[in-house]
Amino acid sequence: MVVAILGAAGMLGVDTTTILKRISTVYAVDIQDIDITNATSIQTLDAVDSLSTIINCAAYTRVDDAESNYEPAYRINAVGPALLAEYCRRRNLHLIHFSTDYVFPGSGVIPYTESDSVGPLSVYGTTKLEGERLIQASGCHYNIIRLQWLYGANGPNFIDTMTQLLTTKNTVSVVNDQWGSPTWTMDVANVLQRLLLSPIPSGIYHLAPSGFASWYDVACEIKKRLNLAAEIVPVTSDYYPRPAQRPLNSRLDCSLLRSFGVEIPGLWDSRLAEYLSGT
Ligand SMILES: NC(=O)c1ccc[n+]([C@@H]2O[C@H](COP(=O)([O-])OP(=O)(O)OC[C@H]3O[C@@H](n4cnc5c(N)ncnc54)[C@H](OP(=O)(O)O)[C@@H]3O)[C@@H](O)[C@H]2O)c1
Repeated sequence: MVVAILGAAGMLGVDTTTILKRISTVYAVDIQDIDITNATSIQTLDAVDSLSTIINCAAYTRVDDAESNYEPAYRINAVGPALLAEYCRRRNLHLIHFSTDYVFPGSGVIPYTESDSVGPLSVYGTTKLEGERLIQASGCHYNIIRLQWLYGANGPNFIDTMTQLLTTKNTVSVVNDQWGSPTWTMDVANVLQRLLLSPIPSGIYHLAPSGFASWYDVACEIKKRLNLAAEIVPVTSDYYPRPAQRPLNSRLDCSLLRSFGVEIPGLWDSRLAEYLSGT
């Protein structure tokens, strides 16, 4: 099996490359080699023999910056995926792409299914949603995996930032009204391995570990697991005004993926404990 990973230097791209090398020949590139917003650049993949799958880990992920940078965010999160989808359709390749819980408005407390109404609150969410729609309209074979609250060893993330804060400060205030599931990039990469070995139908799928937490819960779990002394104070989202509004309810229902026999990562706190034990 020959797989191309685009955006391979990002947080998810690095772990995906590591895991998929176990089962396939991996052509791992980032923007210096292939710019997903440039059709000619994508055609570099013509030289990759027996290519079967493109995994797009490239994205514009700076959520707050996107509020004042609509054009580059749209180009990378919508135009790029559309060009990749068109390329995959022409070459009959399988496209795996990632989207986000930020396509939802975050109302209520019930976990979102793939068929629930979308309604992004931010430019980032809007451009990621447009990327989904353009891929769906392309006619290629695709899996769009909606992820949330990613952390991993190869990019800035809440877990590493909070660990640093809890280690260096006496008191840390943490948001207690946004709910979701922190997701380890290694767990996503392992699910990707399963999807390559045993493909599932084209469509959008939700992927997150089991159970739900607020960011405050996650901070308390880090404090407990690492035996840190800092006091953690729960606050509401308006305590930290930010350019981009976040959904309060980011709970994702993963039963569709499970219905195809895909094993969902275990409880978020045990997955987090495993990550922390290696840091
Ligand atoms: N991080 C999260 O919490 C989160 C949550 C939900 C969903 N997701 C989704 O999960 C996926 C992976 O996220 P991530 O956190 O691993 O992202 P990331 O760390 O920001 O990595 C994205 C990579 O794409 C590269 N890139 C940017 N523009 C490109 C272009 N035009 N062509 C090729 N490569 C380009 C980036 O390079 P530069 O660094 O040089 O720009 C970076 O190496 C994304 O689709 C994201 O939307 C992430």
